[in-house]
Amino acid sequence: MKSLMQRLAMGATCSMALALTLSAPVSAAGDPVEGAKKAYTCLGCHGVEHYVNAYPTYKVPRIAGQHEAYLVAALQAYRAKTRHHPTMQANAGLLSDQDIADISAYLASQGK
Ligand code: HEC
Repeated sequence: MKSLMQRLAMGATCSMALALTLSAPVSAAGDPVEGAKKAYTCLGCHGVEHYVNAYPTYKVPRIAGQHEAYLVAALQAYRAKTRHHPTMQANAGLLSDQDIADISAYLASQGK
């Protein structure tokens, strides 16, 4: 039989965890469901299944299952044109910050 203090302590831990979950910032975090829709055009090249473009066959970097922060940084760098690659600069140039967050959240959740 647990003491009253132990029960109170456990209750406090649980409600703290719940509060942390509920207070997670919604706007800053990427939404993987939105990201799945927005990443549709990306998958023509970044085929999530096998990471090789179907035709013509050339390797495209694996982006599914990549760390979210890495994907955000890469897309922002292409958009800012500090990372060079004409194709990806064109693709990333169309994305808003929210698009980048959503797409990165979606891709990071894939391939695990
Ligand atoms: C026309 C083909 C094509 C399309 C469409 C495309 N990409 Fe890419 N992507 C590439 C290629 C090729 C590279 C490698 C570029 C390089 O070497 O920097 C790349 C690189 C990347 C990288 C960096 C990966 C790494 O390992 O550093 C990310 C992230 C990325 N793409 C995300 C996206 C997203 C998100 C979209 C959709 C908005 C997209 N790409 C659309 C061809 C494409």
